[in-house]
Amino acid sequence: MKNIILTGDRPTGRLHIGHYVGSLKNRVEMQNEGNFDTMYVMIADAQALGDNHDNIQKIRNNIIEVAIDYLSCGLDPNKITLFIQSEIPQLTELTFYYMNLVTLSRLTRNPTVKEEIKLRNFETSLPVGFVTYPISQAADITAFNANLVPVGDDQLPMIEQTREIVRAFNSLYGETLVEPKAVLPKNEVCRRLPGTDGNAKMGKSLGNCIYLADDEKTVNQKVMGMYTDPNHIKVSDPGKVEGNVVFTYLDAFATNEQIKKYAPEYNNLEEIKEHYKRGGLGDVKVKKLLANVLNEVLTPIREKRAYYEAHKNEVYDILFKGSDKAKQVAQQTLDKVKKAMGINYRDILKQ
Ligand code: TRP
Repeated sequence: MKNIILTGDRPTGRLHIGHYVGSLKNRVEMQNEGNFDTMYVMIADAQALGDNHDNIQKIRNNIIEVAIDYLSCGLDPNKITLFIQSEIPQLTELTFYYMNLVTLSRLTRNPTVKEEIKLRNFETSLPVGFVTYPISQAADITAFNANLVPVGDDQLPMIEQTREIVRAFNSLYGETLVEPKAVLPKNEVCRRLPGTDGNAKMGKSLGNCIYLADDEKTVNQKVMGMYTDPNHIKVSDPGKVEGNVVFTYLDAFATNEQIKKYAPEYNNLEEIKEHYKRGGLGDVKVKKLLANVLNEVLTPIREKRAYYEAHKNEVYDILFKGSDKAKQVAQQTLDKVKKAMGINYRDILKQ
């Protein structure tokens, strides 16, 4: 069997460079390698409603933003299927059947869900829909028979839960669903990029993101304000590289060619780190290098963005066409699932 790839993002805001190195870049590479039967990329609007049911406009507005981010990064609708989750009602139906295969205590033990609940201070107002989103994610993945799911490492617990649901389903009702595997970026620093302020997570609500849509000036400003080593005060002071976000970003983004281009007195990033640790290398210089590197990555993305911003209807057409295709595939899986469970009444009850 050839690979079937599925992945997606919640449309709660524009995508940032953490999304880019954590998963988007991987997806574009996988798309261009072409080692798959079908590749789906989904805008998970229904999942995003779990904590935005009172702010639907935000989700609606961000569908186009995320779609434009995708297309600007190089996802190509001629090679892959882009779609909107809520356009596929079969996913909701699958979720409902899978709900019986998962316990509430297992859901609340999911580390990512646990962290998100804490972050949102839900306490006793935790919506049922929110805690159950890993089940709907299992529906997203299995509906398309996906075996590979390129994601950032915060999504690993979701893939693990999907695998458990698949195993539970298959052992109860017979081999029906495909067990998926997560695909993480090879470069470990890319799996969870910290925020510009040094916080372990880059997040919109934390105000520590660099967005794919940020212009050059904004990127320069954000880089200049980045967290480094608080004890590296004078240029001559020895500096720390661990936990220094500027170096973490360089690890994630900079190629050797870029180092040679923007800091020709060094041969590679290691030499720059050594110099910084020894003392004598100022933050501003390293930050300028990083700003150049980031802007080089972001310039072609910004150019494509400008095109799609001016052609939004073209983007909506891509999404709706993709959704029509995805719906058909999901229906086939739903038929298979109902058959396996023996609730395909129209086929079996009337002789
Ligand atoms: N949970 C993912 C996020 O927060 C979005 C998502 C929904 C997803 N369904 C998925 C990712 C299926 C991969 C596979 O961004």
